[in-house]
Amino acid sequence: MAESMQGLKRSHRCTEVSNKNMGEKVTVMGWVQKRRNLGSLIFVDLRDRSGILQIVFDEESIGKEGFEKAGTLRSEFVIAVEGKVQKRSAAVNENLKTGDIEVAAETLRILSESETPPFPIEENSQTKDEIRLKYRYLDLRRPDIQRNMMLRSKVVYLMRDFMMKEGFLEIETPILCKSTPEGARDYLVPSRVHPGNFYALPQSPQLYKQLLMCSGYDRYFQIAKCFRDEDLRADRQPEFTQADMELSFVDVDDVIDVNERLLQYVMKEAVGVEVEVPFKRMPWQEAMDRFGSDKPDTRFGMELKDVSKAVENCGFGVFTGALENGGSVRGINAKGQGAMPRKKIDKLVEFAKGYGAKGLAYLSINADGTYKSSFAKFMTEEELKNLVDVLEGEPGDLLLFAADKNKIVWNVLGALRLEIAKELDLLNPNQYNFLWVTDFPLLEWSEEEERYVAMHHPFTMPVEEDWKNVDFDPGSVRAKAYDIVLNGTELGGGSVRIHQNDIQEKMFEVLGFTKEAAYEQFAFLLDAFKYGVPPHAGLAYGVDRLVMHLVHADSIRDVIAFPKVKDASCLMTQAPGKVDKKQLEELCLSITDKEEA
Ligand code: AMO
Ligand code: AMP
Repeated sequence: MAESMQGLKRSHRCTEVSNKNMGEKVTVMGWVQKRRNLGSLIFVDLRDRSGILQIVFDEESIGKEGFEKAGTLRSEFVIAVEGKVQKRSAAVNENLKTGDIEVAAETLRILSESETPPFPIEENSQTKDEIRLKYRYLDLRRPDIQRNMMLRSKVVYLMRDFMMKEGFLEIETPILCKSTPEGARDYLVPSRVHPGNFYALPQSPQLYKQLLMCSGYDRYFQIAKCFRDEDLRADRQPEFTQADMELSFVDVDDVIDVNERLLQYVMKEAVGVEVEVPFKRMPWQEAMDRFGSDKPDTRFGMELKDVSKAVENCGFGVFTGALENGGSVRGINAKGQGAMPRKKIDKLVEFAKGYGAKGLAYLSINADGTYKSSFAKFMTEEELKNLVDVLEGEPGDLLLFAADKNKIVWNVLGALRLEIAKELDLLNPNQYNFLWVTDFPLLEWSEEEERYVAMHHPFTMPVEEDWKNVDFDPGSVRAKAYDIVLNGTELGGGSVRIHQNDIQEKMFEVLGFTKEAAYEQFAFLLDAFKYGVPPHAGLAYGVDRLVMHLVHADSIRDVIAFPKVKDASCLMTQAPGKVDKKQLEELCLSITDKEEA
């Protein structure tokens, strides 16, 4: 039976009670973690979001009725207890903040009973994800998730605090928008008033924040919900949160400066980690060549080496064939892994194939300097030696090679490098390597669309000295775009924007938009730019990804209160769901057979 809390007022959260309150009367409320009966004494661990406090019931203090009531307590009952703080009668628990004290109950109220939960509410749950997410409200009671959510709240607070002090204004932008060109698929919302027309949920506040610069707001900031209908992964959700900013009268260095100080502040205040600024910067080309990734994890070496030159005339068709096709041959050196058993190497080959490789060539250097290799028979001694030299191979090393189009080779070896580092435990979770990746290509060839597409978005400024090449070598033009990378994750990205009409028009032309088409989609922005637009630039962080790193979570889900699963559904609410016929009629929508099936 549920009792009222009338007449009682919570005086402390569980772990706010300490030995400084010795002998005082306190009132605490929370959930029963567990109850132990020791004959004449009953112990209850009381839990709230602050942690655990031990309550002790003895008949003398609480009376017969109260003692009997305490005997009925079960896990997850919500109770209120009034009592005196005393030294623990039993052994001190070093693992608890309140491990040296307990509260001797004088009043007990059961505010709410609980059915047996489908899984125990405890840290590092072994429960299957599907069950956890179906009962997310219970999962969210777990202390580790609660700590994540508390840290997330703090990070957002710190970001706002810093940005306000730096003169940024927080301005909200619409959720019901025209589609923004961020590259993913839009979520659409049908309009009732304009049948057949749709709003798009924002993929980011990109165009609005640029308009705010046109309007003179100078420095804008927002914690913004963004929506992208794309395939989900461990660090992607269909709706996620950006810490989004835009600044006027600035160039790359200004954006980088304020963001380095922002991250330094957040790291110090949120998790007590001192990071040094300025962060390292690396041009995109170097990141790809050395790490096979535009978001390199620089906590360890195992860098890629281009061996194309060393193999260009060799007898191994896989290598020379790739070169003839305009590709390259590159390798990595897994130091000290020369004795890796064949089975394990085969696993790496399979892994590489998962990233698009046709195969993976290997060469291990035996202790006596001889080689064991999948391709040595196609090469002369000298060719092999050249190859080994490029990778600085020594006895005991394992060299792995991929030959293909550059994009595939980078992808494969970049992923392999990370996989091997994970296996060899080379990734120190307490090391924070922040890195700016700069000078991204402005344009990227899309095989699918058979045209150049913007690598970032169509409003990104080209590097001035490259722009003259746009007509005859569009792929070589670099962008004034930058990503902030932490330990192999892209935390955020941004760019300097185009504010000159002629460059913007040319950009649309290169992207294959007619003037009319560009105008139709972005009229409001292009019009706004006619009335005086300041040079501007900005950046956005994925807040979820940042917090995920700070708490060392494996998935972005662990830092989002109500996340969605891989197919973008919510296991708790069962969203998305069907709607009433009447609702559809109002919107002038009908469902086609395919959808119904
Ligand atoms: P971008 O598309 O790079 O840039 O997004 C910025 C950051 O948002 C995070 N992010 C995501 N997080 C979780 N789930 C997703 N599906 C997801 N997609 C992106 C990433 C990413 O770095 N308007 C530009 C920014 C700018 O130019 O100022 C933009 O949105 O951490
Ligand atoms: P094959 O001649 O196809 O049996 O391949 C000989 C060796 O080269 C095997 O170890 C393959 O895994 C490897 N290999 C095949 N294709 C590639 C490639 N594109 N890049 C690197 N190694 C490859």
